[in-house]
Amino acid sequence: MGVKMAAPTHIPVLLQETIEALAAQPGGRYIDCTLGGGGHAAAILERSSPGGQLLGIDADPEAIKIAKARLKAYSGSTLLVNENFVNLQAICFKYDFLPVHGILFDLGLSSLQLNDSSRGFSFQYDAPLDMRLSPSQEITAADIVNISSEIELAHLIKKYGEEGYCHQIAHHIIQQRPIKTTLELARTIEQAIGRRRGRIHPATRTFQALRIAVNQELEHLEATLKQAINLLGFEGRLVVISYHSLEDRIVKQFMQQEAKDCICSPGTPICVCRHTACLRLITKKVITPSSAEVQLNPRSHSAKLRVAERIITQDEYHNTAERLCFSVVVNGGGWRRPTLLKRLRRTFSAL
Ligand SMILES: C[S@@+](CC[C@H](N)C(=O)[O-])C[C@H]1O[C@@H](n2cnc3c(N)ncnc32)[C@H](O)[C@@H]1O
Repeated sequence: MGVKMAAPTHIPVLLQETIEALAAQPGGRYIDCTLGGGGHAAAILERSSPGGQLLGIDADPEAIKIAKARLKAYSGSTLLVNENFVNLQAICFKYDFLPVHGILFDLGLSSLQLNDSSRGFSFQYDAPLDMRLSPSQEITAADIVNISSEIELAHLIKKYGEEGYCHQIAHHIIQQRPIKTTLELARTIEQAIGRRRGRIHPATRTFQALRIAVNQELEHLEATLKQAINLLGFEGRLVVISYHSLEDRIVKQFMQQEAKDCICSPGTPICVCRHTACLRLITKKVITPSSAEVQLNPRSHSAKLRVAERIITQDEYHNTAERLCFSVVVNGGGWRRPTLLKRLRRTFSAL
């Protein structure tokens, strides 16, 4: 009797915590910027029905196919878009999907991508050095490995992999080029810095660095977080799960900065930045998986979840005041109400 292979799956990380962080509710409108296998999306749709709507985005056409099948029961409430999330704002305008109650980012790769032996994300499988999330991207990991100078490679491996042996690795790569497959690269790195250091494979950090560079992951994350703020309605939630310190640092700094009224450098006598807070931190401390979850799903071990809520900025308050002051309600269809107007202006300027 042949052995039956289980269909590959991706177990959603911090699932309950994510749904609570999004404060998902019936009739709510949500965006999952990293749809993957659709695990988080299914739970969001379940919690937000009846009447909930979900816009799911993924750069990987394979992920969209898999998620579409998984979310079939909700096809009337979902809109799945094969795009890079760096175009988030344009996507929402195109499909008139705003404002929203919550936006989720579950960063990085799914197990489906890592275990796909043809994509080149993992050194567990011999495959061409590709690592693109989408086949429409031009530059592959092989291009970076075989075209960059030694200095450029060392810099990239240090910056995106936080690899202390970046110079040794870059030097060996240059000597072994052309390097075309994952196993050729993993072997080159082993030759450069030895077989194993602790529990992590010597190629882990370099593979991470190349994947981040190929997909411009950090630049896209930074740019998209800014767009997300403009799409959230009042008290809408921004929820981000990250898996390594480079991502988490961007998310943490972004949320902390946007939760502050002034971001002038310390010691500046009077505020010159005129920055006003538009987020409130919901998690002062990062949320991490329980040991039971890590045991069940080892991939979750490095996950960090951060949550913030959209608040109205002072500028938005003032715009609201202006709109109210000129509205029919306040002006009474031509009859100006000076006392009410004055009181409104005073109330809003005191905020
Ligand atoms: C960790 S998985 C998400 C898994 C998903 N939450 C689930 O429960 O199945 C991350 C997904 O985000 C996608 N992704 C990563 N960066 C992206 C980007 N810049 N634009 C669009 N999709 C991206 C990947 O292709 C991958 O499918």
